[in-house]
Amino acid sequence: MEHTPQILVVGSDPLLKDEFTAAVAGLRGWKPVVHSVRGARQGIEVARNRRPEVVCVQVEGDPRSLKSFAEEVSAAAPGTAIVALYRPDGLGFSDGESNVIIEAVRAQVQDFLRRPLSASELQQLLDRVLRRPKEQKKDLGRVLSFVSNKGGVGKSTMSVSVAVELARRLPPGKVLLVDCSVHLGSCGPMLDLTPTTTLAHAAREQNRLDETLLRKLTVRHACGLDLLGAPVDPVDASVVDDETLSRTLTLARRSWDWVIVDTFPMLDGMIMSILDLSDRAYVVVQNTVPNVVGAARLLPVIQQIGFPRERTRIVLNNNFEKAPGGLTIADVEARLDADVDYVIPYQKRLITALNTGRPYMLHGTKLFGFGKAVKLLVDDLLAGMETEAETEPAPAPRARPAPPAGGSTKASFAD
Ligand SMILES: Nc1ncnc2c1ncn2[C@@H]1O[C@H](COP(=O)(O)OP(=O)(O)O)[C@@H](O)[C@H]1O
Ligand SMILES: [Mg+2]
Repeated sequence: MEHTPQILVVGSDPLLKDEFTAAVAGLRGWKPVVHSVRGARQGIEVARNRRPEVVCVQVEGDPRSLKSFAEEVSAAAPGTAIVALYRPDGLGFSDGESNVIIEAVRAQVQDFLRRPLSASELQQLLDRVLRRPKEQKKDLGRVLSFVSNKGGVGKSTMSVSVAVELARRLPPGKVLLVDCSVHLGSCGPMLDLTPTTTLAHAAREQNRLDETLLRKLTVRHACGLDLLGAPVDPVDASVVDDETLSRTLTLARRSWDWVIVDTFPMLDGMIMSILDLSDRAYVVVQNTVPNVVGAARLLPVIQQIGFPRERTRIVLNNNFEKAPGGLTIADVEARLDADVDYVIPYQKRLITALNTGRPYMLHGTKLFGFGKAVKLLVDDLLAGMETEAETEPAPAPRARPAPPAGGSTKASFAD
């Protein structure tokens, strides 16, 4: 898995954005998500809510403003590295101003980047400031989101199943499931849990929200999984927005090793905040024409908003029993113009699991079918994480479950 720090670029120069886009494209081992804002105030707000790993600020006007900006960002987002962007020819500071710069460096600015920006300088900066990613990433959990622009395709089923399977294999309290289906949460009932505090509480408490409070807002399942439930009604839901969600997920990944996000079928600011923080997005699709058409529209949009294709996985969930005339995997791949990464077979007992709140991954077989497919997906995740801890950052190969003995998982529903 590549390393995906968030970089916030603050500055009024319209060329900045393009310079970063070009430099980011030339990086090795890093796939930063870059946000740009023009003003210092907005920069401090975004830093507070999103806690980027790096804030790059254009040195402009009075260099004293750099010092106060750096101080405010450090207070709002402790641990964020602050980097000043400068043009060697355009500084022209007097001695007094140079002193301010020196003071700024002493105060909070950690490093400088020369403009126009080059990929190699940005590369060196990230290597230097964020150290080797294995040191830095060790403390941050992985965020996995399940998305689609249709309802009823299996996002919640997959989120709950993957979260339970991860939790089952790890010590208690390492996995958090966040039910972001703000208008119709279903993770609670699927786990037979009734959270008394939810995402809405996290949103309301955002000014004093920290990792300890966030843990208190979750409810523990017997398998060791923690759940942050969806708001209970539309009034509750209205307090959750992209910023509070961003803040909550940012804190969550500091406290849990794995953060699984169940989403809702809409592409809005909230989904973008979720994607911004996701290490992997699983696009869930069913093998029906309207569904595949919807997914074919969604995939390019996800890329256009800056979410890298390498971090996207396509999950074909067969939650209809073999329907005559249903699309084959080859049909789906052709329409999506992309490979299907995981095929999840139909499992009729899921309905019982749903009605009783007894997760299938705790009570059903993992030797074949649905249980085996989910297990393989989780195997890939855990294997990916181990590889990363041992090696230098490198683009991860696309994970695909191994075909089961006696035929591929694909064949199990294509015929
Ligand atoms: N692989 C599957 N086999 C059988 N039923 C499934 C499967 N995946 C999902 N379902 C069922 O389909 C319905 C919709 O799934 P759900 O996960 O709630 O979708 P979404 O969250 O995308 O709206 C549920 O009743 C669920 O039990
Ligand atoms: Mg759902």
